[in-house]
Amino acid sequence: MSEKIFNPNPEFAKDAKINSMEQYWELQNRAIEDYEGFWKDFADEKIDWIEPYDNVLDESNAPFYKWFSNGKLNVSNQCIDRHLADKAEQNAIVFEGDKGDVQHITYGQLSERVNELSNLLKNKFGVKKGDRVVLYMPMIPEAAYAMLACTRIGAIHSIVFGGFSSEALRDRIEDAEAKIVITADGAFRKGKPYMLKNVVDDALDAGGDSIEAVLVVKRNNEEIKWVEGRDHSYNELIEAESTECPFEPMESEDPLFLLYTSGSTGKPKGVQHATAGYILWAQMTMEWVFDLRKDDVYWCTADIGWITGHTYIVYGPLAAGGTTVMFEGVPTYPDAGRAWKMVQDHNVTQFYTAPTAIRLLHKTGEDEPKKYDLSKLRVLGTVGEPIDPPAWKWYYEVVGNSKCAIVDTYWQTETGGHMISPLPGATPIKPACATFALPGIITEIIEEDGTPTPIGEKGFMCITRPWPSMIRTIWNDPNRFVKSYFGDCKKDGEAVYFTGDGAMIDEDGYITITGRTDDVINVSGHRMGTAEVEAAIKKHDSVAAVAVVGKPHEIKGEGIFAYIVLKDPSEASEDLKIAINKVIKKEIGAIALCDAMVFVPDVPKTRSGKIMRRILRSLAKGEEITQDTSTLEDPSIVEVIEKIVKEG
Ligand code: WTA
Repeated sequence: MSEKIFNPNPEFAKDAKINSMEQYWELQNRAIEDYEGFWKDFADEKIDWIEPYDNVLDESNAPFYKWFSNGKLNVSNQCIDRHLADKAEQNAIVFEGDKGDVQHITYGQLSERVNELSNLLKNKFGVKKGDRVVLYMPMIPEAAYAMLACTRIGAIHSIVFGGFSSEALRDRIEDAEAKIVITADGAFRKGKPYMLKNVVDDALDAGGDSIEAVLVVKRNNEEIKWVEGRDHSYNELIEAESTECPFEPMESEDPLFLLYTSGSTGKPKGVQHATAGYILWAQMTMEWVFDLRKDDVYWCTADIGWITGHTYIVYGPLAAGGTTVMFEGVPTYPDAGRAWKMVQDHNVTQFYTAPTAIRLLHKTGEDEPKKYDLSKLRVLGTVGEPIDPPAWKWYYEVVGNSKCAIVDTYWQTETGGHMISPLPGATPIKPACATFALPGIITEIIEEDGTPTPIGEKGFMCITRPWPSMIRTIWNDPNRFVKSYFGDCKKDGEAVYFTGDGAMIDEDGYITITGRTDDVINVSGHRMGTAEVEAAIKKHDSVAAVAVVGKPHEIKGEGIFAYIVLKDPSEASEDLKIAINKVIKKEIGAIALCDAMVFVPDVPKTRSGKIMRRILRSLAKGEEITQDTSTLEDPSIVEVIEKIVKEG
């Protein structure tokens, strides 16, 4: 794409929180010169402290950094109670169901719902500070109530995305040793009911022994199995609970939640976030990156099962006192104008989605946005994967009517909130480019030894100073935490946080993210570990070996491509491919299904047995093999596989 620069719309910029690059640099230079002072000022201004902290940043046990040690606060107070004086009647959540049913939930009502559920969890189920609560929920307001109720009583929630299978759910329950699961009968998608409770049943039938109770919210009223003594009805029990519940004072570093994400081994990592630093950055980025103002209605289309749903549907918008839209359905049902109709109907001012959704909406309804009044929109956001220039252009011109800023927000489950992003009132934007690190975030693109990568070349995207909302550890596995994030890159001899992504910086200092450098595939903006998918495929009895790689996909960004070696090659058939995908669905969920599989006699390995994925990636794309194959155990295998791939 040409190097055209899109300057902030002066009409929107004049009232923006950060409205010039001078202001950006003033903030960023302050952070560089006095890092702790910078963060102290914001922590004092933004957080409703119950007891003051005594140390901004404690680096004595790096990389187990501590922020705002010994301070006391409560996240549900930060998101609800402290707003009640002036916002009790303001909408906190606007919910739209799949079928178009709408609920407006004010801050006053949100407070009551969260308090009741807090009381129920505490009094009926004995959930205490530090206990783990698994949420396996659809996108309904009760999911947000459950998150906030956990934070109110100091329980640690672990949300498992509703697309994960019973096996994946069980693994996560067991790893976290959770005490209770909150779920729903199911919900609606594309006009039809779908079920969740049966997945919980299956998960608990074969394990999950730490679970004492399952709390079930009624949503679609479909019939469900009921295990007496274990299963409890939210809708019945909540009636008896008081709408008053004091919040638990939490220490800044108390764990706030766990969220499992894929890494480069078969076992997902329980990313652990801490209380104060997380909520501070969630609120600050909400204010800066989305430029949230009074009377705004902000809509993020993510699912609460992912980090984007945590930080930018629930915690960020509510901590900032905003109005957040929650949507149960899919943006293309009943037609490709659904999302735009919702933007119009709810007067949405900020719209935040993933490139995969933008590509889909573009493809299925290029002119749909023009049919609706989208004139309230000011900021359009994207997240999850690099956005391609054609999708960016359509988003900017057609959805945003060439008036809105596009914030291409780069971040991760582990970073808690945005790290690199344009600021809508300040940053001159280069399309499809994440631009600059946010004020307070110190990033560098470096080589493994810490030397800066030259301009225009790909290097490792590192964050060289700890930041408040960073991952604290991997649940029950501190060694893996250190190894996963602080093992690869060093700066002045000290290990620094490596994101796992590659990036490039240009002559103007703009950062472009080039994608993962590890064995993680990004399918529709969701992280999938190749090892995780391979482990699932290996569970099929016919499979002897497998290697999985990502292959560019028009809508999903990347699709999953599997090279499978059968124990008995004569078994190869289309039916077997279907059967293998069924195993993946059972082990992980439909999100990890393979787009393509080929049966091969062997996979290319080095003499030490390491699979040469780079070659397999090139073969999947149909590229010429330019890599050196002489180090392979059997170089001739490359040609054999190439022929098989070509023949489909
Ligand atoms: C990728 C999602 C390019 C990246 C918030 C990262 C992006 C992974 C962008 C994290 C972006 C996220 N441009 N790539 N704007 N945002 N990514 O943990 O590879 O689900 O490491 O968090 O998504 O995915 P996760």
